[in-house]
Amino acid sequence: MKYQFPRDFWWGSASSAPQTEGESLSGGKSATIWDTWYAKQPGRFHQQIGPQQTSTFYQHWQQDIALLKQLNHNSFRTSISWARLMPKGRGEVNPEAVDFYNGVIDELLAQGITPFINLFHFDMPTVMQEQGGWESRYVVDAYAEYADTCFRLFGDRVQHWFTFNEPIVPVEGGYLYDFHYPNVVDFKRAATVAYHTVLAHALAVKKYRQRELGGEIGIILNLTPSYPRSENPADIKAANIADLLFNRSFLDPVLRGEYPTELVALLKDYDQLPECQPGDSALILEGKVDLLGINYYQPRRIKCRDSRVNPDAPFMPEWLFDYYQMPGCKMNPHRGWEIYEPGIYDILTNLRENYDNPRCFISENGMGVENEQRFSQNGQINDDYRIEFVSEHLKWVHRALAEGSHCLGYHMWTFIDNWSWCNAYKNRYGFIQLDLKTQQRIVKKSGEWFAATADNQGFDEVEKND
Ligand code: BG6
Repeated sequence: MKYQFPRDFWWGSASSAPQTEGESLSGGKSATIWDTWYAKQPGRFHQQIGPQQTSTFYQHWQQDIALLKQLNHNSFRTSISWARLMPKGRGEVNPEAVDFYNGVIDELLAQGITPFINLFHFDMPTVMQEQGGWESRYVVDAYAEYADTCFRLFGDRVQHWFTFNEPIVPVEGGYLYDFHYPNVVDFKRAATVAYHTVLAHALAVKKYRQRELGGEIGIILNLTPSYPRSENPADIKAANIADLLFNRSFLDPVLRGEYPTELVALLKDYDQLPECQPGDSALILEGKVDLLGINYYQPRRIKCRDSRVNPDAPFMPEWLFDYYQMPGCKMNPHRGWEIYEPGIYDILTNLRENYDNPRCFISENGMGVENEQRFSQNGQINDDYRIEFVSEHLKWVHRALAEGSHCLGYHMWTFIDNWSWCNAYKNRYGFIQLDLKTQQRIVKKSGEWFAATADNQGFDEVEKND
């Protein structure tokens, strides 16, 4: 069986400035919250490897773009670092950063690779965090100014823009679950951060459209379908709440231009609503996107709680549902994430049936594996498991396309092993192996498979290794 994709399907991969560039405190760049957190608590990072030790894209971008070409990418996503481009957060632009990003964009275009540029990938400049981060409307305005500066500088060549990557992750990590700086645990503050991020997104969309540059602007969301343990109404209710909090809190404003009434009612019931101002609703309506990026790694399995919560503990989403590990599910043990390929189809189907079938693409999907060196054969990582992972997900994308989904492409996380936040280099995700000592780059077997797949616009059934 051949899985054939449309001729103009986007084949590529995704990365981000903070995980690849390196030079995190040089080249005129100021610190982000990652630099600041690492300076305070290096022990929070796997093997104490911090944001300075990334995959050196700042030095090796030409070589890396040549590798992207070798992988037959027709598109590639990275992000601009706010702290590099505007080290004070507002005002002055760093000329070295402008040269760097111009070089990257021009070289991608010269190689026939369409640049997809994201404006924020978890990397709040420290100067802005000191102003309150996303809790502050001052920072919302500063972000809009930064976004508009990017459109002015690069919008003549970049035609695909994204305001945020996974905006819910800084909400979860920084304000609920303690896996990002500033390590706050406070639902109401988390809700404010989420709300202000949506306002910042909408302001940037508005600014982009005002410039009439002829391109498109969207956002990248990690959509994690919520599956109830059973058909019991209590489980279904719990799964619906998880969906409202973790998916629809961003999906509805960016696709429908408004929040779900159920979500607003829920937060009101628990006295967790953020402060709204006149004009916010009209602005959010203007933030409806042209293109939605979908990051998909794992499903969320939910059951109703069967115990009472501690009323003295801080209010948390888990007051309203519980997690459920489905017996017999397939797991990626390195990351602790379930692998459930039909989830990608369920997301696309939900978008088609309930959100007017928006223009969208898979903007991240991937598998992080620890100690990949053990799969090395004749100097190459023989990562059949990754080929299986990608092809099995692509089959479900293929099916969604056959049913009319408006999915325009598939980007893998990621093209080269890179720095994974607190996990540093524990789990490797790349099509290309990175030797941390020498910075040597070697294409893995999956990279060769992907290059052939992109070239053929599809693939034949992949033999499974049991
Ligand atoms: C996504 C992010 O959440 O998943 C990436 O956009 C991230 O930045 C990727 O690296 C994989 O997750 P992790 O935590 O294993 O690096």
